[in-house]
Amino acid sequence: MKQSSLLIVDDDRHLLESMSDWLRSLSYRVECAASCQQAYEWLSKKPFDLVLADVRLEDGDGFGVLAHVKEHHPHASVLLITGYGSVDAAVQAIRAGAFDYLTKPLIDEELHMAIERALGQQDLVEENARLKEQLDRRFGLDHIVGQDHRMQRIFDLIDSVADTKATILISGESGTGKSMIARAIHRRSMRREGSFVEVACGALPETLLESELFGHVAGAFTGATTDKMGKFKQADGGTIFLDEIGTASLSMQVKLLRVLQEFEFEQVGGTKTYHVDSRVVLATNDDLMERVADGTFRQDLYYRINVINVELPRLRDRVMDIPLLARHFLQNMSEETGRIVKDFTPDAVNAMQAYTWPGNVRELQNVVERAVLLGKSDVIDVEDLPLSMARPIPRRIAETGKQRTLKEALEIPERQIILEVLESHQWNRQSTAEALGINRTTLYKKMKRLGLEEAQPAGI
Ligand SMILES: Nc1ncnc2c1ncn2[C@@H]1O[C@H](COP(=O)(O)OP(=O)(O)O)[C@@H](O)[C@H]1O
Ligand SMILES: [Mg+2]
Repeated sequence: MKQSSLLIVDDDRHLLESMSDWLRSLSYRVECAASCQQAYEWLSKKPFDLVLADVRLEDGDGFGVLAHVKEHHPHASVLLITGYGSVDAAVQAIRAGAFDYLTKPLIDEELHMAIERALGQQDLVEENARLKEQLDRRFGLDHIVGQDHRMQRIFDLIDSVADTKATILISGESGTGKSMIARAIHRRSMRREGSFVEVACGALPETLLESELFGHVAGAFTGATTDKMGKFKQADGGTIFLDEIGTASLSMQVKLLRVLQEFEFEQVGGTKTYHVDSRVVLATNDDLMERVADGTFRQDLYYRINVINVELPRLRDRVMDIPLLARHFLQNMSEETGRIVKDFTPDAVNAMQAYTWPGNVRELQNVVERAVLLGKSDVIDVEDLPLSMARPIPRRIAETGKQRTLKEALEIPERQIILEVLESHQWNRQSTAEALGINRTTLYKKMKRLGLEEAQPAGI
């Protein structure tokens, strides 16, 4: 069994001695401090499980010791002791984070029990943390849900590279979790105390992006009235996350290549060279290899950033994760709103698994949130899901391949319009055709081509 270590802080040296002798006889390791100052010295020298502090001390009070321990040694518990037992002080002590509050004269057994309770509580906290870590492993990392083997491989990869300085390129369609993974990498690295700085490269025109990244000196361009620190500088000691890197222009790519190679740059309009130490994580929803092939992305930059590649699968390619994610969002949303929604019906789960999710996890999250807010019962059924999900779009149409012709692209809105008119005419072909201004045969043909025949709900 581990021997627990205690620090006793009291300015009554006599009491200090008798208390420490007694506690040592109970086989605790005990150190004594007669003032706040001495207590801080001990705390900086070695770890303690428990601090026992008198409220009244010569050079301060027990509340000061409590605040110091909470801030610098959050794992240690604090018991406060005073000769003037008052309810106010007790409440104040507990509010400020003390584990318990004892009044003088101390009764040995009472003290012993309070110490054991505090130490037992720590074991519980540790046990919880350990169990939570096990769960994290099973259900993903830092609330990132995923049991699909590709996701599990990604979690392993992140675990092994987070603590290095390797550049990481995350690719995947919009909504697959790129930003979330980037943040998880930072949190899992030894740079977690540093800043995580995010730059949406696609959101800014080139000149602004340059000053955003590198900063500028006053007078560098119209409107630059003062010096501005850039994002690279802000991320010194931390992580910089360059999102939508595929949108950077060729001249911007040259500047990025330099900073990624040398970790050096100048502010816009400046001459001083800055050096930074930041971890670089990038994300893209373009196929950068393809962009290299057609000459819009520099090959040297591509090789520089493609050191470790995390490829996030589309949601429709990991259908087993769909119910898992849906329940995760359901639970979050129930906690947030206080609405008690327990689960999905099997039909709802099937419909979600059959759907193509062009917006990936983000779309799923929105769908679940909307269903929790608008649903009328404590389970979510197909009716609570968007119409497009109750009537699955054939994959051929939903597939977001690059070489889609205009005709194919127009099938999506065409299908949506026909579906809406069909619904509003209770699936009566004749009146739907009239409302759309086409003849009935054309409507039949279109319904067949767009996979709407199968989509008619039963009973109509
Ligand atoms: N595996 C996942 N587990 C839990 N939530 C996820 C997961 N992937 C994505 N999300 C959530 O989906 C939304 C979109 O994710 P995000 O990281 O912004 O995607 P991207 O950056 O690829 O567009 C966010 O709210 C994120 O929290
Ligand atoms: Mg993102």
